[in-house]
Amino acid sequence: MQVKDEQVGIVRGEASVSTYQFSAHPDSKLKFGEFVAAKNREGEWVIGNIRRLENINWLLSEGKSTYYSLELDLNEYGESIEANEALIATVRVLGRIVKNGSRIEVAPNRVPIPNGREVYKVNDELLKEIYNGGPGYIEIGTLLLREGVPIYLNADELVSRHFAVLAVTGAGKSNAIAVMLGEIVERLRGTVIVLDPHGDYVKLSLPNTGREYVKIIEAKIKPEEMDGEELADLMEVQKNAAIQRNFLLKAWETVKHENPQLGGRELIEELRLKLEKWARDREGSYWDEYIQGYRELEKIDSNTVSTITRLTMRISRFLRNYGHVLTSEDIVSQIEPGKVNVIDLGPLDEGQMKVVVGKLVQKVFEARVDYEKARKKLERIKDELKRGRVVKTSTLEGEVKELEKTMKDIEGKSSALAEPILLIVEEAHIFAPQGEKNDAVRILGRIAREGRKFGVGLGVVSQRPNKLNEDILSQTNTKIILRIVNPRDQEYVLKASEQLSEDLLRDIASLGKGEAVIVGQAISLPALVKIYNFKARGGEYGGEDIGVVNRWLKRAESERKEREIREEYEEEGIDFDY
Ligand SMILES: Nc1ncnc2c1ncn2[C@@H]1O[C@H](COP(=O)(O)OP(=O)(O)OP(=O)(O)O)[C@@H](O)[C@H]1O
Ligand SMILES: [Mg+2]
Repeated sequence: MQVKDEQVGIVRGEASVSTYQFSAHPDSKLKFGEFVAAKNREGEWVIGNIRRLENINWLLSEGKSTYYSLELDLNEYGESIEANEALIATVRVLGRIVKNGSRIEVAPNRVPIPNGREVYKVNDELLKEIYNGGPGYIEIGTLLLREGVPIYLNADELVSRHFAVLAVTGAGKSNAIAVMLGEIVERLRGTVIVLDPHGDYVKLSLPNTGREYVKIIEAKIKPEEMDGEELADLMEVQKNAAIQRNFLLKAWETVKHENPQLGGRELIEELRLKLEKWARDREGSYWDEYIQGYRELEKIDSNTVSTITRLTMRISRFLRNYGHVLTSEDIVSQIEPGKVNVIDLGPLDEGQMKVVVGKLVQKVFEARVDYEKARKKLERIKDELKRGRVVKTSTLEGEVKELEKTMKDIEGKSSALAEPILLIVEEAHIFAPQGEKNDAVRILGRIAREGRKFGVGLGVVSQRPNKLNEDILSQTNTKIILRIVNPRDQEYVLKASEQLSEDLLRDIASLGKGEAVIVGQAISLPALVKIYNFKARGGEYGGEDIGVVNRWLKRAESERKEREIREEYEEEGIDFDY
């Protein structure tokens, strides 16, 4: 195990198990964040990061110097000034280096580094081994200060314990997600669903396989899956408009009962017809799910007729505005295994998005829960039969058949539901805002808490961390944090992350594009990482910067050309008209 490169300094001053200082060798080229190693009192190698670099000069830094006194000093001391310049580095200890089988790991350090110990730059090879991947890992970038050291994330940890990608707009969140998608789908052949509110990924093309493993699914609303209350909300029938709501609920149950073969827009048309009929006849009967039978409506007076008419007008407006997003098809059954399934929410407004996402995610999660429960139960029964702990009875056989049917039905809907799934939520603050309760928040919260048991991973992406539901954010174990400048966002992220220390937090405001602090179970050690540029790796996604000035200049250029042609034509006396 090669630990060290060149010597860069000597330990001095007070040292604890978690931090020490050293005087740097005058020729050493040290940078903030650099990895260094020194031996502790027990002779074990201890690795750390430079967290502070200070220049002091023994001749000039003493006392209260004014500009003129410094000028005098410069003249007096001449060349000896440079020799008195010192670079003091403060190191935060990451841990001691231990060998665990074939892997190099970093374990907590329990003894301090004595003064006078030599400090070395850590060898690239050692860092490579520490951040090394394996079959279940994805490669997402390199150490910021060591381009030669690739950074791998453990995909099992990443998916089963969830993750968050947080940063200001334009810092590189979607690029980071795109890199991860490429690795997860191309290398590990995993199944991913991406909820894409801005159509950022509709042009997604993976580095090696292009569009082969990308499936774009148009987000639509299937009204027949909604209960009357949800439909009323979507149609913006106020909560206090009790009579309108009441009629809507009754008519909705009735048309759903009477038209089991209908769905989508047609079912909403039926709903309007039913209400119009009731208003015209001033009477009618409605289906009561509870008693599973029809009941007579109360007599409808003229006031009620106009209330119903207002409701039917609302339904017409709903059809005008929402007609294009209504469907009778099932989105879940379009999800394919081993692909990035991009749910294009672009054409929907926020209210519609929340409804679609709430329903879709719930269906996926419930299918996974049912599937895994059935699978485990079946395994247990088979195991017990084999060991002779239970005897085969017709009831048991019936139960086995039932469980197998449950699994078959789910596989029939989409074979993707029979395997673990990673769900990535872009702009997660839209669906899971702090302090708001809706179906989407509830189901995402449930996945954050229980997804692990049922093989549903969650990745949340947001540029407004402090607007994101706190419970969900704190359940995400791995955090990929790119540039964040807002102190409130920073604090919020700090509160939600076990492994993020205050000093790492300080780095976050000064990160450049695509540079991230990564902490959590999926990475061997917290690290400053330069995420790969997805485009440079041969991939493409749609969310890149649109290039403001270029677009303006391009338009100006085409205007100029047009003017030239016009002038030419005018000179030649040709009528210019289009
Ligand atoms: N690691 C990187 N290396 C090089 N360029 C990058 C990197 N990450 C992002 N970029 C570039 O920065 C721009 C913005 O990146 P990206 O779309 O990922 O930002 P974002 O954080 O998702 O922004 P928004 O919040 O607006 O969605 C893109 O043009 C992208 O190509
Ligand atoms: Mg983005």
